[in-house]
Amino acid sequence: MCGIVGYVGHQSAVSMLLNSLKKLEYRGYDSSGIGIVDANKRKIAFRKDQGKISNLEKMLNARPLPESHLGISHTRWATHGAPNKKNAHPHFDTSKKIFIVHNGIIENYESLKKDLIKKGHKFISDTDTEVIVHLISDFYNGDIFHATQKAVKKLRGAFALGVICEDSPEQLIAARIGSPLIIGVGDHENFIASDVPAILESTNKIIYLKDGQMATLTSDRVDVFDFDGKPVKAKVDEVTFSVDAVQKQGFDHFMLKEIHEQPAVLEQMLKARLKGSKVSLEGLHLTDQQLKDVEHVFIVACGTAYHAGLVGKYIIEKLARTPVSIDVSSEFRYRDPIIDKKTLVVAISQSGETADTLAAVREAKNKGAKVVSICNVVGSSLVRESDGVLYTHAGPEIGVASTKAYTAQVMMLFFMAIKFSQIKNEKGSALTKDLMAAMKELPALYTSILKSKRGIAQVARKNSHFGCFLFLGRNINFPSALEGALKLKEISYIPAEGYAAGEMKHGPIALIDEYRAVVCVVPQSDIYEKMISNIQEIKARKGKIIAIATEGDQQIKPHANHVVYVPRTHELLTPLVVALPLQLIAYYISVQQGCDVDQPRNLAKSVTVE
Ligand code: F6R
Repeated sequence: MCGIVGYVGHQSAVSMLLNSLKKLEYRGYDSSGIGIVDANKRKIAFRKDQGKISNLEKMLNARPLPESHLGISHTRWATHGAPNKKNAHPHFDTSKKIFIVHNGIIENYESLKKDLIKKGHKFISDTDTEVIVHLISDFYNGDIFHATQKAVKKLRGAFALGVICEDSPEQLIAARIGSPLIIGVGDHENFIASDVPAILESTNKIIYLKDGQMATLTSDRVDVFDFDGKPVKAKVDEVTFSVDAVQKQGFDHFMLKEIHEQPAVLEQMLKARLKGSKVSLEGLHLTDQQLKDVEHVFIVACGTAYHAGLVGKYIIEKLARTPVSIDVSSEFRYRDPIIDKKTLVVAISQSGETADTLAAVREAKNKGAKVVSICNVVGSSLVRESDGVLYTHAGPEIGVASTKAYTAQVMMLFFMAIKFSQIKNEKGSALTKDLMAAMKELPALYTSILKSKRGIAQVARKNSHFGCFLFLGRNINFPSALEGALKLKEISYIPAEGYAAGEMKHGPIALIDEYRAVVCVVPQSDIYEKMISNIQEIKARKGKIIAIATEGDQQIKPHANHVVYVPRTHELLTPLVVALPLQLIAYYISVQQGCDVDQPRNLAKSVTVE
């Protein structure tokens, strides 16, 4: 949600910033901009434009910026103020000496703005961000670091900031609370960015700036401080993923590439977590006794991660017989949930920066619960605030629609459920043994589904004209239906509802006629016959049925207009195998509709605002 990049070094700031900013476009793409300090005239200059970064690039080609070695840049996901040029970052003070880029929301901007206007500051945008630069300029008396330091102490809300000033043409300033910001340590050049992929081509040496920290960067130095100006010893981490991981590598879209990465993701998770007949939950930081003492699990997450959590509820309850509650984080944080010391809160998040999930975690900790997270991004805010973390290590997910992160989260919840079950029943039940054996087959099953993607693409194309979709599933595949619907609606803008098939008759069946497509998740299971009855009810009302069924199931054929087969697996693992065709159906419909698969309208990858 908004991407920031800043550069100071020996190379051309404009080309470094533009190249890096493109890697962050998944965070927002309403408008973008670059501000630099002219290396010769020591004056600030900028370009910004509405829409995607390609618009900014065209503008820079037509009207190049002067040579520079210091600059900041931004790609925006609008919160305060329309997505237009006026509201695009960087924003500047009245004297146009100081420029800033910002990710986050300033909650007290209205009162600050009133005071600043009274003092003569001239505002030109509708953003909350603009108050920050005017505030810095209000404190400015020749020392940009101290002015920024004084300003950030007055701000309430969340922010990651990049600041430059034409009086300090060799210095870049960064600060953060609540929104992610990293520092890339290079060779005679240094960077700030919202996320690692932006700068990975230049350096893999990363400082994860913490909440309440600021930094000054020159081409040869990085110094980190707290907001009181006290120096802080910062740790430099080396990230291990390669530049390839953040490129399309011949695929048409990141989403398709990430769908194809799933067999490898599951394979590495199995290697890391399955140790003979045991499961390793390294990173959880809870002893077996502490796990045994857990009386209640509470899962919090948003969007796709919430759907993974729903699968988790079914499997933890089934395997460990421990009650599991689940809330979307935005509800949890404001409804005074019942949790105590015997509750284990599990926060699930791909990015680890989702504002609502972070707030839910803080709420849970205030109430005395232990919090563990299932997270993909190393060093993210969520990880830092949790007592323990289970990394999915699925690699960077760039496509806005989550795919490999989802299946990795579900897989991790299986590991958790098995561990819980083994702790409660030391000999390990036959069920967990069967499951572990079946889990080992999953990467090969995924590969075989991917081999049949042409057939899935055909089904998707044949049905892409429907103006409305329903996704139905029961029991452990009810979350699969919700996730299938979310995937489709977010990347094709076709209204799609996920429903528990048994709930159809209580309302949604009114929607069914020959103009609706209904995707029925109906793998072999104990409730197969119940699903068939539900499918017949839809058929009787002329709904067009796309069934996702188990290979070899002939019974389904007369009931469905199209059947997509998935390989047979353990019944509890079916959410993991049906996820793949659901992702592919959404993908191919989106492509057929000519939509922007990786950057669907109004969305951003990392939702760092409430
Ligand atoms: C949908 C999607 C979103 C995210 C949600 C939570 O495809 O990606 O629904 O799942 O915004 O994001 P994280 O997992 O980063 O907390």
